Amino acid sequence: MYSQALSAAQQVDRAFALIFGVSVLLLAGIVGCMLWFAWRYQRKRHPQAADIHGNTLLEILWFVLPTIIVLGMFYFGWTSYKALRSVPADAMTVQVTGRMWSWAFEYPNGRRAAELVVPVGRAVKLDMTSTDVIHSFYVPAFRIKTDTVPGMQTYAWFRPEEKGEYDILCAEYCGLKHANMLSVVRVVEAEEFNQWYRGETDMTGGAGPDPLAVFENQGCTGCHSLDGTILVGPTLKDIWMRDTVAVLPDGRTNSIKADGPYLRRAILDPGAEVVQGYDDIMPGYEGQVTDEELKAMLHWMKGAAAPVPPQGRTVAE
Ligand code: CUA
Repeated sequence: MYSQALSAAQQVDRAFALIFGVSVLLLAGIVGCMLWFAWRYQRKRHPQAADIHGNTLLEILWFVLPTIIVLGMFYFGWTSYKALRSVPADAMTVQVTGRMWSWAFEYPNGRRAAELVVPVGRAVKLDMTSTDVIHSFYVPAFRIKTDTVPGMQTYAWFRPEEKGEYDILCAEYCGLKHANMLSVVRVVEAEEFNQWYRGETDMTGGAGPDPLAVFENQGCTGCHSLDGTILVGPTLKDIWMRDTVAVLPDGRTNSIKADGPYLRRAILDPGAEVVQGYDDIMPGYEGQVTDEELKAMLHWMKGAAAPVPPQGRTVAE
């Protein structure tokens, strides 16, 4: 069960509880009547049905009761909808971009991250879009679920009231790795947030980015294994200096060794040199990864390379 981290969440829960409660009562009433009538009018009892003409009390009741119930549902639904759509004026705006298959966050000062770091108690507005297909930004703890649509800006907001980590999911089926399209909201003290926001620390303790965390957070591992398994894209195991055939946009091919400059290009602008045998579906990471993150990734690829020529799949076959 996800904890409640937002007062608007309580309003959503209240509306849900009301509708659920009414539904349970109606279900119990209908099933109860069904069983009662089935017993009362069974053939063996030779029932005599009464022919009733008009019952004012009953007629008033079946008008008034459903009207009250529906108006109650509308009231709680409308007030919680308004709470979810009315962004406080002091909210900090973060741009959210959904893409196959990861989330990217950009802050007002240009800081980019693969996780949503926010200070506790501060309202946060999320301006959202998508670069490829429709995704849906879903934080169960905050009761937020909003589609991100290519070519369109959508929004949501929340005010985190407790420190902690809250799961972000994609709630719109968007292809092979939809289930891996995960991130977290990290709610921290204001002071901790400010240091992070100014770029003085990262959430791994400030020792420079951990390449494995970068692969994970940037969504790389959704498509590229680190252990030699072929997923959607080439494995990153032993990728350093791997013989690669790249298909250029005009269809010509180019045989290259996967050295540092090539791997850097392949991360920032993969569409320019698509590895032969794979689809051109990887998003470009230009502007999505920091230079430190890029260095950490390349450092890992170089260090993890086998001393002997790589035995991994060579895509020239
Ligand atoms: Cu993105 Cu499902």
